[in-house]
Amino acid sequence: MFSCSLKYMLCASILCAFLPKPFNSLTLSPRKDDITLTNDNASVLEIAEKLGATTFLDYVHKTNLTKNFTRPGPLTVFIPSNQAFEEIPDEEKDLSVIKTLLLYHIIHGLHPKSTIKNEAKLKSEYKMEDKYLDVRMNIYHNGQIITASGSPIVNFDIKASNGIVHFLSRVMYLLPESGTLAQQAYTPITRYVAYGLMDGGLAEKLNKKEPYTLFAPTDLAFEQLPNKTMQILIGNKTAIRRLMENHIVSGTYFTKGMREKDKFTTLLGETIQVDSIKGNVTISGALLPLPDFTATNGVMHLTTKVFVPPDLF
Ligand SMILES: *[C@@H]1O[C@H](CO)[C@@H](O)[C@H](O)[C@H]1NC(C)=O
Ligand SMILES: *[C@@H]1O[C@H](CO)[C@@H](O)[C@H](O)[C@H]1NC(C)=O
Ligand SMILES: *[C@@H]1O[C@H](CO)[C@@H](O)[C@H](O)[C@H]1NC(C)=O
Ligand SMILES: *[C@@H]1O[C@H](CO)[C@@H](O)[C@H](O)[C@H]1NC(C)=O
Ligand SMILES: *[C@@H]1O[C@H](CO)[C@@H](O)[C@H](O)[C@H]1NC(C)=O
Ligand SMILES: *[C@@H]1O[C@H](CO)[C@@H](O)[C@H](O)[C@H]1NC(C)=O
Repeated sequence: MFSCSLKYMLCASILCAFLPKPFNSLTLSPRKDDITLTNDNASVLEIAEKLGATTFLDYVHKTNLTKNFTRPGPLTVFIPSNQAFEEIPDEEKDLSVIKTLLLYHIIHGLHPKSTIKNEAKLKSEYKMEDKYLDVRMNIYHNGQIITASGSPIVNFDIKASNGIVHFLSRVMYLLPESGTLAQQAYTPITRYVAYGLMDGGLAEKLNKKEPYTLFAPTDLAFEQLPNKTMQILIGNKTAIRRLMENHIVSGTYFTKGMREKDKFTTLLGETIQVDSIKGNVTISGALLPLPDFTATNGVMHLTTKVFVPPDLF
């Protein structure tokens, strides 16, 4: 099993130094809306208390971010449940990591449910190299599931004196710190994907703003391919491109937005399917050991299987 500290190893490769910096992404300017805030002096932190979000409150105090959450704003704040905090990997529970995660849960301006658009990017208060990281909003299954950077919102538009709160069932973690999908693919265990995207001429596409979902088979999965398939791929950029295209879907699909029997059409035109969700999503027979790595232009899921198009078998 891979450790989630993998995220901190991303871009450890020397190659990353030569990759272009992330593009500046389009952000929606904060807007005031038809929401009337309460005037009873209950800031978002009192709302958190009412919601029973004690872990969140505890972390806000421990990281000395109280002022960030009580300032006039107006703010939109994503507050994760206690259960959600229990589910994040231990590596993410370090207070310095928690501090950055909490800042990522604060959005400038008011963004009530009625204004949320699919693939909209909201500027968070987490700054990295002079740039504020965005939270990506997604609407799935005709609005039955709405996620913020892959975390489902279970309660919307709870009013406070200094903003509104959306309550989350998952902490927004695995942030888009390492940039675009093309950059994200540079992990020590997905080298075939990183090189495949380059050799197949797809790295540029995955370095732009347009959102994609990248299914990234681990190196182990590639090493288990039939010899015949490997022989076809070696030195054939057309075959490599076709193979890589079969791992890319247009649009951002986080696992929390997926349901059993959902189908996706890859850039190659083949269909891949969500087989079963029993706590764990599988796609066309592949497990997703590390799902939901957000990128500035979509999401990457590590998979245990290569999706080989029929002509490459
Ligand atoms: C809110 O707090 C301010 C400053 O403490 C106080 O002057 C004001 O009366 C309070 N408003 C309400 C509605 O409690
Ligand atoms: C918390 O922030 C205040 C200023 O808002 C500062 O005086 C204090 O030293 C900080 N404490 C820690 C532990 O960072
Ligand atoms: C929010 O937190 C950051 C990082 O700790 C700090 O630099 C900033 O001044 C805070 N902003 C407010 C308004 O409290
Ligand atoms: C794979 O195929 C190549 C070329 O046909 C052959 O040289 C090699 O021995 C094969 N390897 C295995 C493990 O079958
Ligand atoms: C390379 O792969 C493509 C696509 O699978 C195939 O049509 C073509 O014949 C291959 N070229 C060579 C030289 O094997
Ligand atoms: C989901 O995957 C995890 C990690 O591989 C495993 O421990 C757990 O049992 C799986 N859950 C189900 C319902 O299969």
